[in-house]
Amino acid sequence: MIIHKLQTAIDLLSEGKLVAIPTETVYGLAANGFNGQAVAGIFQAKNRPQFNPLILHSNSMERFQEWEISIPKQALDLAAKFSPGPLTLVVPKSNLIPDIVTAGQNSVAIRVPNHPLTLELLSKLAFPLAAPSANKSGTISPTKAQDVQAQFGEEIGAILDGGPCHIGLESTIISFTGNTPKLLRLGGLSLEEIEDSLGMKLDQTKLINNENPEAPGMLSRHYAPQTPLYIDDAIAHLPEAEFSEMAFIGFKEPHGQIPTINQILLSDGGSYAEAAQNLFTALRKADNMQLKVIIAQLLPEENLGRAINDRLRRAAIKQN
Ligand code: TXA
Ligand code: MG
Repeated sequence: MIIHKLQTAIDLLSEGKLVAIPTETVYGLAANGFNGQAVAGIFQAKNRPQFNPLILHSNSMERFQEWEISIPKQALDLAAKFSPGPLTLVVPKSNLIPDIVTAGQNSVAIRVPNHPLTLELLSKLAFPLAAPSANKSGTISPTKAQDVQAQFGEEIGAILDGGPCHIGLESTIISFTGNTPKLLRLGGLSLEEIEDSLGMKLDQTKLINNENPEAPGMLSRHYAPQTPLYIDDAIAHLPEAEFSEMAFIGFKEPHGQIPTINQILLSDGGSYAEAAQNLFTALRKADNMQLKVIIAQLLPEENLGRAINDRLRRAAIKQN
């Protein structure tokens, strides 16, 4: 059920129910982060493996500190600059947080999302919200209330409609549990901006397989449409597909051979931010064309192009 009233969301969440919430990145599937049973409902609804920990959301870093989470200075400085925003900090866990949230790890991921309705919601709750992206595990992330409705229907308490997500890519995740900050996931805040602010390069050795720290590779296909998706340079190796049977997702330039009607450009003006915002909707649209394959073109490896390429590579069929 799509709702617009904050109070309904507050009531449902306080009763331990699941509510999908808007954020600037993607819609989240939220539950009371201090209620282990409510959080268990998220794993069940998403069909998410229990070893994959969740992000806690609240309306300010101070509130996380009130909940006995100690945030290192370097992380606080970064948050002062980019939070609320598409940034998640992984920091040492506090005992108030149930193990199911962190999948038994001694660190916790925290984030202050930049969405007015959700900030107001969070400020009225006495607990943080645990919230992964509001999609079934492995599928395309939702950037509109209707995307969530299409996957979960009446399975969850409600979907709070906050309009389309402005950024369209999940948050960038940085871990502050070791000696130097580590990039765990590329996302809506560019690596360049973070490194500039920190005045140092981020350690990227933990970047690959961050979806699945325990068993690398198992979840390597993610954000996946039903239609097999290939990266542009695989066209030459495709078995028996005609151009007319291909959907195309490109950055700003159309493909020379695939029919125009099958093509989606992420930003014909070449804006990374616009491309990011359109990415998941483009994947859904291409999938709905029900053609034989989707061909996706990678963007330049800079700015938000990196995170977009990360999502496209994970959505792609692996070729050996
Ligand atoms: O933008 C976002 O971050 C969205 C919105 C809803 O806030 N949320 C989101 O959650 O993308 P999810 O669950 O789809 O992705 C969270 C990622 C997972 O890859 C998970 O493994 C990682 O964060 N993560 C969570 N807690 C962690 C921890 N303690 N240590 C390392 N990675 C962690
Ligand atoms: Mg997700």
